[in-house]
Amino acid sequence: MTNFIHVVGARPNFMKLAPLYNKIAVSSYTQKIIHTGQHYDAQMSDIFFEQLKIPQPDYHLGIGSATQTEQTAKAMIAIEQVLLNDKPQAVIVYGDVNSTLAASLVCSKLLIPIVHVEAGLRSGDRTMPEEINRIITDRISTLLLTPSEDANKNLIDEGIPANQIYFVGNIMIDTLVESLKIINNHLIFTEKAQKVINSINGESYILSTVHRPSNVDNSQALKKLFSVFFEIASDKHIILPLHPRTKKQLEDLHILQDVPEKFHIIQPMGYFDFIHLQKNAFCVLTDSGGIQEETSYLNVPCLTLRANTERPITIELGSNELIGNDYNLLFEKMKEIASGDYKKAQTIPFWDGKTSDRIVSVLQSYFG
Ligand code: UD1
Repeated sequence: MTNFIHVVGARPNFMKLAPLYNKIAVSSYTQKIIHTGQHYDAQMSDIFFEQLKIPQPDYHLGIGSATQTEQTAKAMIAIEQVLLNDKPQAVIVYGDVNSTLAASLVCSKLLIPIVHVEAGLRSGDRTMPEEINRIITDRISTLLLTPSEDANKNLIDEGIPANQIYFVGNIMIDTLVESLKIINNHLIFTEKAQKVINSINGESYILSTVHRPSNVDNSQALKKLFSVFFEIASDKHIILPLHPRTKKQLEDLHILQDVPEKFHIIQPMGYFDFIHLQKNAFCVLTDSGGIQEETSYLNVPCLTLRANTERPITIELGSNELIGNDYNLLFEKMKEIASGDYKKAQTIPFWDGKTSDRIVSVLQSYFG
Protein backbone atom coordinates (compact mmCIF):
# COMPACT_ATOMS: atom_id res chain seq x y z
CA MET A 1 0.00 0.00 0.00
CA THR A 2 1.18 3.53 -0.77
CA ASN A 3 1.69 5.49 2.42
CA PHE A 4 1.10 8.96 1.04
CA ILE A 5 -0.39 10.45 -2.11
CA HIS A 6 0.31 14.15 -2.69
CA VAL A 7 -2.32 16.05 -4.66
CA VAL A 8 -1.20 19.18 -6.52
CA GLY A 9 -2.69 21.10 -9.39
CA ALA A 10 -1.70 24.74 -9.63
CA ARG A 11 1.53 26.71 -9.72
CA PRO A 12 1.67 27.70 -6.02
CA ASN A 13 1.46 24.02 -5.01
CA PHE A 14 4.63 22.87 -6.71
CA MET A 15 7.18 24.74 -4.57
CA LYS A 16 5.40 23.40 -1.46
CA LEU A 17 5.41 19.81 -2.71
CA ALA A 18 9.13 19.74 -3.64
CA PRO A 19 10.81 19.79 -0.21
CA LEU A 20 8.36 17.40 1.44
CA TYR A 21 8.45 14.95 -1.46
CA ASN A 22 12.23 14.93 -1.38
CA LYS A 23 12.32 14.43 2.39
CA ILE A 24 9.82 11.56 2.29
CA ALA A 25 11.83 10.02 -0.57
CA VAL A 26 14.70 9.33 1.84
CA SER A 27 12.42 7.88 4.55
CA SER A 28 10.94 4.39 4.68
CA TYR A 29 7.55 5.65 3.44
CA THR A 30 6.25 5.14 -0.10
CA GLN A 31 4.58 8.00 -1.95
CA LYS A 32 2.95 9.03 -5.24
CA ILE A 33 1.89 12.28 -6.87
CA ILE A 34 -1.44 13.20 -8.46
CA HIS A 35 -1.33 16.32 -10.66
CA THR A 36 -4.88 17.39 -11.44
CA GLY A 37 -3.77 19.51 -14.41
CA GLN A 38 -5.55 22.65 -13.12
CA HIS A 39 -2.48 24.48 -14.45
CA TYR A 40 -1.23 22.91 -17.65
CA ASP A 41 0.95 25.40 -19.58
CA ALA A 42 4.64 24.48 -19.60
CA GLN A 43 5.51 27.80 -17.96
CA MET A 44 2.82 27.39 -15.27
CA SER A 45 3.65 23.78 -14.43
CA ASP A 46 6.36 21.69 -16.18
CA ILE A 47 9.19 24.14 -15.54
CA PHE A 48 8.62 23.90 -11.77
CA PHE A 49 8.85 20.10 -11.85
CA GLU A 50 12.11 20.35 -13.80
CA GLN A 51 13.74 23.06 -11.70
CA LEU A 52 12.66 21.74 -8.31
CA LYS A 53 13.53 18.15 -9.23
CA ILE A 54 10.09 16.74 -8.61
CA PRO A 55 9.57 13.45 -10.50
CA GLN A 56 6.84 13.20 -13.12
CA PRO A 57 3.45 12.73 -11.44
CA ASP A 58 2.25 9.14 -11.14
CA TYR A 59 -1.19 10.31 -12.24
CA HIS A 60 -1.91 13.27 -14.48
CA LEU A 61 -5.64 13.98 -14.55
CA GLY A 62 -5.77 16.64 -17.28
CA ILE A 63 -8.59 18.65 -15.68
CA GLY A 64 -7.68 22.03 -17.22
CA SER A 65 -9.70 25.23 -17.02
CA ALA A 66 -13.40 25.60 -16.39
CA THR A 67 -15.66 27.42 -13.97
CA GLN A 68 -14.71 27.03 -10.31
CA THR A 69 -17.47 24.47 -9.79
CA GLU A 70 -16.78 22.48 -12.93
CA GLN A 71 -13.03 22.44 -12.31
CA THR A 72 -13.50 21.25 -8.73
CA ALA A 73 -16.15 18.68 -9.66
CA LYS A 74 -14.11 17.21 -12.52
CA ALA A 75 -11.07 16.99 -10.27
CA MET A 76 -13.13 15.23 -7.59
CA ILE A 77 -14.40 12.58 -10.00
CA ALA A 78 -10.92 11.88 -11.37
CA ILE A 79 -9.24 11.87 -7.94
CA GLU A 80 -11.83 9.44 -6.60
CA GLN A 81 -10.97 6.92 -9.30
CA VAL A 82 -7.29 7.02 -8.38
CA LEU A 83 -7.90 6.79 -4.63
CA LEU A 84 -10.36 3.92 -4.98
CA ASN A 85 -7.67 1.93 -6.78
CA ASP A 86 -4.66 3.03 -4.80
CA LYS A 87 -6.10 3.27 -1.26
CA PRO A 88 -3.22 5.25 0.29
CA GLN A 89 -2.75 5.48 4.04
CA ALA A 90 -3.21 9.29 3.81
CA VAL A 91 -3.41 12.10 1.27
CA ILE A 92 -1.31 15.27 1.53
CA VAL A 93 -2.81 18.49 0.15
CA TYR A 94 -1.29 21.97 -0.11
CA GLY A 95 -2.55 25.51 0.22
CA ASP A 96 -5.90 26.71 -1.00
CA VAL A 97 -6.40 26.02 -4.69
CA ASN A 98 -9.41 24.25 -6.18
CA SER A 99 -7.45 21.00 -6.50
CA THR A 100 -6.82 21.07 -2.72
CA LEU A 101 -10.52 21.36 -1.99
CA ALA A 102 -11.40 18.65 -4.53
CA ALA A 103 -8.95 16.16 -3.04
CA SER A 104 -10.04 16.90 0.52
CA LEU A 105 -13.71 16.38 -0.23
CA VAL A 106 -13.01 13.06 -1.93
CA CYS A 107 -10.85 11.86 0.97
CA SER A 108 -13.50 12.79 3.49
CA LYS A 109 -16.02 10.59 1.63
CA LEU A 110 -13.57 7.69 1.32
CA LEU A 111 -12.47 8.03 4.96
CA ILE A 112 -8.85 8.61 3.97
CA PRO A 113 -6.96 10.85 6.44
CA ILE A 114 -6.09 14.29 5.01
CA VAL A 115 -2.87 16.10 5.85
CA HIS A 116 -3.21 19.80 5.06
CA VAL A 117 0.05 21.67 4.57
CA GLU A 118 -0.44 25.44 5.05
CA ALA A 119 -3.55 25.07 7.22
CA GLY A 120 -5.27 27.82 9.17
CA LEU A 121 -4.69 30.88 6.99
CA ARG A 122 -7.72 33.18 6.81
CA SER A 123 -8.29 36.43 4.96
CA GLY A 124 -11.78 36.86 6.41
CA ASP A 125 -12.99 37.52 2.85
CA ARG A 126 -15.46 34.88 1.74
CA THR A 127 -15.74 36.33 -1.77
CA MET A 128 -12.28 34.86 -2.45
CA PRO A 129 -12.59 31.33 -3.84
CA GLU A 130 -9.43 30.40 -1.96
CA GLU A 131 -10.95 31.38 1.40
CA ILE A 132 -13.76 28.87 0.96
CA ASN A 133 -11.21 26.26 -0.08
CA ARG A 134 -9.19 26.97 3.08
CA ILE A 135 -12.14 26.81 5.46
CA ILE A 136 -13.61 23.59 4.07
CA THR A 137 -10.26 21.83 3.71
CA ASP A 138 -9.31 22.63 7.31
CA ARG A 139 -12.71 21.59 8.60
CA ILE A 140 -12.31 18.06 7.21
CA SER A 141 -8.55 17.57 7.56
CA THR A 142 -7.05 15.10 9.98
CA LEU A 143 -3.70 16.82 10.52
CA LEU A 144 -3.47 20.60 10.15
CA LEU A 145 0.07 21.81 9.61
CA THR A 146 0.35 25.56 10.05
CA PRO A 147 2.92 28.05 8.72
CA SER A 148 2.56 30.68 11.47
CA GLU A 149 1.06 30.98 14.93
CA ASP A 150 -1.85 33.18 13.82
CA ALA A 151 -3.04 30.16 11.81
CA ASN A 152 -3.15 28.03 15.00
CA LYS A 153 -5.30 30.66 16.63
CA ASN A 154 -7.70 30.77 13.68
CA LEU A 155 -8.17 27.01 13.84
CA ILE A 156 -8.68 26.93 17.60
CA ASP A 157 -11.24 29.77 17.27
CA GLU A 158 -13.08 27.66 14.69
CA GLY A 159 -13.27 24.73 17.11
CA ILE A 160 -10.64 22.44 15.59
CA PRO A 161 -9.24 20.19 18.36
CA ALA A 162 -5.75 21.33 19.41
CA ASN A 163 -4.31 17.82 19.09
CA GLN A 164 -4.84 17.92 15.31
CA ILE A 165 -2.91 21.18 14.86
CA TYR A 166 0.88 21.35 14.44
CA PHE A 167 2.86 24.54 13.98
CA VAL A 168 5.53 23.38 11.52
CA GLY A 169 6.48 26.62 9.73
CA ASN A 170 6.41 27.73 6.13
CA ILE A 171 7.30 24.99 3.68
CA MET A 172 7.72 27.40 0.76
CA ILE A 173 10.66 28.92 2.58
CA ASP A 174 12.37 25.49 2.48
CA THR A 175 12.35 25.71 -1.31
CA LEU A 176 13.42 29.32 -1.24
CA VAL A 177 16.36 28.64 1.10
CA GLU A 178 17.60 25.74 -1.06
CA SER A 179 17.11 27.65 -4.29
CA LEU A 180 18.97 30.72 -3.12
CA LYS A 181 22.08 28.54 -2.85
CA ILE A 182 21.97 27.59 -6.51
CA ILE A 183 20.11 30.40 -8.17
CA ASN A 184 22.95 32.41 -9.68
CA ASN A 185 24.13 29.46 -11.75
CA HIS A 186 20.74 28.38 -12.94
CA LEU A 187 19.07 31.34 -14.54
CA ILE A 188 17.44 30.33 -17.80
CA PHE A 189 15.54 33.41 -18.85
CA THR A 190 13.53 33.02 -22.02
CA GLU A 191 14.84 35.02 -24.95
CA LYS A 192 12.14 37.64 -24.41
CA ALA A 193 12.87 37.96 -20.68
CA GLN A 194 16.60 38.16 -21.30
CA LYS A 195 15.96 40.97 -23.78
CA VAL A 196 14.01 42.87 -21.13
CA ILE A 197 16.75 42.35 -18.57
CA ASN A 198 19.36 43.57 -21.03
CA SER A 199 17.29 46.63 -21.91
CA ILE A 200 16.94 47.58 -18.23
CA ASN A 201 20.69 47.52 -18.08
CA GLY A 202 21.10 47.33 -14.30
CA GLU A 203 18.60 50.12 -13.55
CA SER A 204 16.21 49.61 -10.66
CA TYR A 205 12.88 47.97 -11.46
CA ILE A 206 9.58 47.03 -9.89
CA LEU A 207 8.44 43.42 -10.23
CA SER A 208 4.71 42.84 -10.46
CA THR A 209 2.18 40.02 -10.74
CA VAL A 210 -1.61 40.26 -10.90
CA HIS A 211 -4.11 37.48 -11.36
CA ARG A 212 -6.75 37.61 -8.60
CA PRO A 213 -10.35 37.81 -9.77
CA SER A 214 -10.80 40.92 -7.55
CA ASN A 215 -8.24 42.80 -9.69
CA VAL A 216 -8.61 41.11 -13.02
CA ASP A 217 -12.23 40.14 -13.58
CA ASN A 218 -13.65 43.61 -12.96
CA SER A 219 -12.91 45.64 -16.09
CA GLN A 220 -13.04 49.04 -14.35
CA ALA A 221 -10.64 47.91 -11.61
CA LEU A 222 -8.27 46.42 -14.16
CA LYS A 223 -8.26 49.55 -16.34
CA LYS A 224 -7.59 51.74 -13.30
CA LEU A 225 -4.78 49.47 -12.10
CA PHE A 226 -3.09 49.53 -15.48
CA SER A 227 -3.39 53.30 -15.77
CA VAL A 228 -1.51 53.47 -12.44
CA PHE A 229 1.09 50.98 -13.73
CA PHE A 230 1.58 53.11 -16.85
CA GLU A 231 1.98 56.24 -14.72
CA ILE A 232 4.67 54.56 -12.61
CA ALA A 233 6.36 53.26 -15.76
CA SER A 234 6.77 56.79 -17.09
CA ASP A 235 9.61 56.92 -14.57
CA LYS A 236 10.54 53.44 -13.36
CA HIS A 237 10.79 50.07 -15.07
CA ILE A 238 8.05 47.59 -14.26
CA ILE A 239 8.47 43.92 -15.16
CA LEU A 240 5.20 42.00 -15.28
CA PRO A 241 5.30 38.26 -15.96
CA LEU A 242 1.75 37.82 -17.15
CA HIS A 243 -0.59 35.18 -15.76
CA PRO A 244 -2.80 33.65 -18.50
CA ARG A 245 -5.98 34.80 -16.78
CA THR A 246 -4.79 38.43 -16.76
CA LYS A 247 -3.51 38.21 -20.32
CA LYS A 248 -6.88 37.15 -21.60
CA GLN A 249 -8.67 40.01 -19.84
CA LEU A 250 -6.15 42.60 -21.00
CA GLU A 251 -6.52 41.43 -24.58
CA ASP A 252 -10.32 41.43 -24.40
CA LEU A 253 -10.31 45.00 -23.04
CA HIS A 254 -7.59 46.26 -25.46
CA ILE A 255 -5.65 47.65 -22.50
CA LEU A 256 -2.22 46.97 -23.95
CA GLN A 257 -2.45 49.08 -27.07
CA ASP A 258 -0.31 51.98 -25.90
CA VAL A 259 2.23 50.75 -23.39
CA PRO A 260 5.09 52.92 -22.02
CA GLU A 261 8.60 51.88 -22.96
CA LYS A 262 9.52 51.04 -19.36
CA PHE A 263 6.56 48.69 -18.89
CA HIS A 264 7.78 45.19 -19.74
CA ILE A 265 5.30 42.37 -20.13
CA ILE A 266 6.69 38.86 -20.36
CA GLN A 267 5.50 35.26 -20.09
CA PRO A 268 5.11 33.59 -16.66
CA MET A 269 8.62 32.76 -15.44
CA GLY A 270 10.33 29.72 -14.02
CA TYR A 271 10.94 29.62 -10.29
CA PHE A 272 14.66 30.45 -10.24
CA ASP A 273 14.31 33.39 -12.61
CA PHE A 274 11.39 34.80 -10.68
CA ILE A 275 13.14 34.54 -7.30
CA HIS A 276 16.22 36.18 -8.78
CA LEU A 277 14.11 39.10 -10.01
CA GLN A 278 12.33 39.35 -6.65
CA LYS A 279 15.55 39.40 -4.72
CA ASN A 280 16.89 42.34 -6.69
CA ALA A 281 13.71 44.36 -7.14
CA PHE A 282 13.18 47.92 -5.88
CA CYS A 283 9.83 46.62 -4.68
CA VAL A 284 7.18 44.09 -5.63
CA LEU A 285 3.57 44.93 -6.47
CA THR A 286 1.42 41.84 -6.30
CA ASP A 287 -1.88 40.23 -5.39
CA SER A 288 -0.29 36.80 -4.86
CA GLY A 289 -0.24 35.10 -1.47
CA GLY A 290 3.08 33.28 -1.78
CA ILE A 291 4.97 36.32 -3.02
CA GLN A 292 4.01 38.25 0.13
CA GLU A 293 5.87 35.50 2.01
CA GLU A 294 8.90 35.24 -0.25
CA THR A 295 9.49 39.01 -0.21
CA SER A 296 9.23 38.99 3.58
CA TYR A 297 11.93 36.35 3.81
CA LEU A 298 14.06 38.27 1.31
CA ASN A 299 13.38 41.62 3.01
CA VAL A 300 12.20 43.15 -0.26
CA PRO A 301 9.36 45.70 0.08
CA CYS A 302 6.06 44.19 -1.04
CA LEU A 303 3.01 46.36 -1.73
CA THR A 304 0.01 44.10 -1.95
CA LEU A 305 -2.80 45.01 -4.31
CA ARG A 306 -5.49 43.54 -2.08
CA ALA A 307 -7.68 44.85 0.72
CA ASN A 308 -6.91 41.91 3.01
CA THR A 309 -4.43 39.11 3.46
CA GLU A 310 -4.55 35.61 4.88
CA ARG A 311 -0.88 36.10 5.74
CA PRO A 312 -0.91 38.88 8.39
CA ILE A 313 2.47 37.79 9.72
CA THR A 314 4.03 39.28 6.56
CA ILE A 315 2.70 42.67 7.64
CA GLU A 316 3.48 42.26 11.32
CA LEU A 317 7.03 40.92 10.96
CA GLY A 318 7.73 40.95 7.23
CA SER A 319 8.12 43.59 4.53
CA ASN A 320 4.53 43.57 3.29
CA GLU A 321 1.91 46.37 3.30
CA LEU A 322 -1.68 46.21 2.05
CA ILE A 323 -2.49 48.79 -0.60
CA GLY A 324 -5.85 47.52 -1.83
CA ASN A 325 -6.86 50.00 -4.50
CA ASP A 326 -5.60 53.05 -2.57
CA TYR A 327 -3.13 54.24 -5.18
CA ASN A 328 -2.22 57.39 -3.23
CA LEU A 329 -0.94 55.09 -0.51
CA LEU A 330 0.97 53.15 -3.15
CA PHE A 331 2.83 56.29 -4.27
CA GLU A 332 3.47 57.27 -0.63
CA LYS A 333 4.97 53.85 0.14
CA MET A 334 7.14 53.96 -2.97
CA LYS A 335 8.56 57.26 -1.76
CA GLU A 336 9.34 55.68 1.62
CA ILE A 337 11.13 52.83 -0.13
CA ALA A 338 13.15 55.24 -2.26
CA SER A 339 14.19 57.29 0.79
CA GLY A 340 15.08 54.19 2.83
CA ASP A 341 12.33 54.82 5.40
CA TYR A 342 10.27 51.73 4.59
CA LYS A 343 10.09 49.08 7.34
CA LYS A 344 12.58 46.20 7.41
CA ALA A 345 11.57 42.57 7.70
CA GLN A 346 12.39 40.61 10.85
CA THR A 347 12.94 36.89 11.26
CA ILE A 348 9.66 34.97 11.23
CA PRO A 349 9.51 31.92 13.55
CA PHE A 350 9.99 28.61 11.72
CA TRP A 351 10.53 30.21 8.33
CA ASP A 352 13.94 28.59 8.39
CA GLY A 353 14.17 25.95 5.68
CA LYS A 354 13.41 23.10 8.09
CA THR A 355 9.64 22.83 7.80
CA SER A 356 9.71 19.62 5.77
CA ASP A 357 11.81 17.94 8.53
CA ARG A 358 9.21 18.97 11.10
CA ILE A 359 6.41 17.66 8.89
CA VAL A 360 8.07 14.26 8.50
CA SER A 361 8.38 14.08 12.31
CA VAL A 362 4.66 14.80 12.65
CA LEU A 363 3.85 12.12 10.06
CA GLN A 364 6.04 9.62 11.91
CA SER A 365 4.46 10.33 15.26
CA TYR A 366 0.93 10.09 13.84
CA PHE A 367 1.19 7.31 11.24
CA GLY A 368 4.02 5.34 12.79
C1 UD1 B 1 -5.18 29.59 -9.26
C2 UD1 B 1 -5.57 29.49 -7.81
C3 UD1 B 1 -4.94 30.65 -7.02
C4 UD1 B 1 -3.45 30.75 -7.26
C5 UD1 B 1 -3.21 30.84 -8.76
C6 UD1 B 1 -1.73 30.95 -9.06
C7 UD1 B 1 -7.80 28.57 -7.33
C8 UD1 B 1 -9.15 28.93 -6.87
N1 UD1 B 1 -7.02 29.59 -7.63
O1 UD1 B 1 -5.82 30.73 -9.80
O2 UD1 B 1 -5.15 30.42 -5.65
O3 UD1 B 1 -2.93 31.90 -6.61
O4 UD1 B 1 -3.77 29.68 -9.38
O5 UD1 B 1 -1.43 30.90 -10.40
O6 UD1 B 1 -7.47 27.43 -7.40
N2 UD1 B 1 -4.77 29.18 -17.55
C9 UD1 B 1 -3.94 28.96 -18.63
N3 UD1 B 1 -2.90 28.11 -18.48
C10 UD1 B 1 -2.64 27.45 -17.33
C11 UD1 B 1 -3.50 27.68 -16.23
C12 UD1 B 1 -4.55 28.54 -16.35
O7 UD1 B 1 -4.13 29.54 -19.70
O8 UD1 B 1 -1.67 26.68 -17.26
C13 UD1 B 1 -5.89 30.13 -17.64
C14 UD1 B 1 -7.22 29.44 -17.61
O9 UD1 B 1 -7.66 29.16 -18.88
C15 UD1 B 1 -8.12 30.44 -16.93
C16 UD1 B 1 -7.19 31.19 -16.02
O10 UD1 B 1 -5.88 30.94 -16.49
O11 UD1 B 1 -8.66 31.34 -17.86
C17 UD1 B 1 -7.36 30.86 -14.57
O12 UD1 B 1 -6.89 29.59 -14.19
P1 UD1 B 1 -7.43 28.86 -12.85
O13 UD1 B 1 -6.68 27.63 -12.59
O14 UD1 B 1 -8.89 28.76 -12.93
O15 UD1 B 1 -7.18 29.85 -11.66
P2 UD1 B 1 -6.01 30.89 -11.38
O16 UD1 B 1 -6.52 32.23 -11.61
O17 UD1 B 1 -4.76 30.48 -12.07
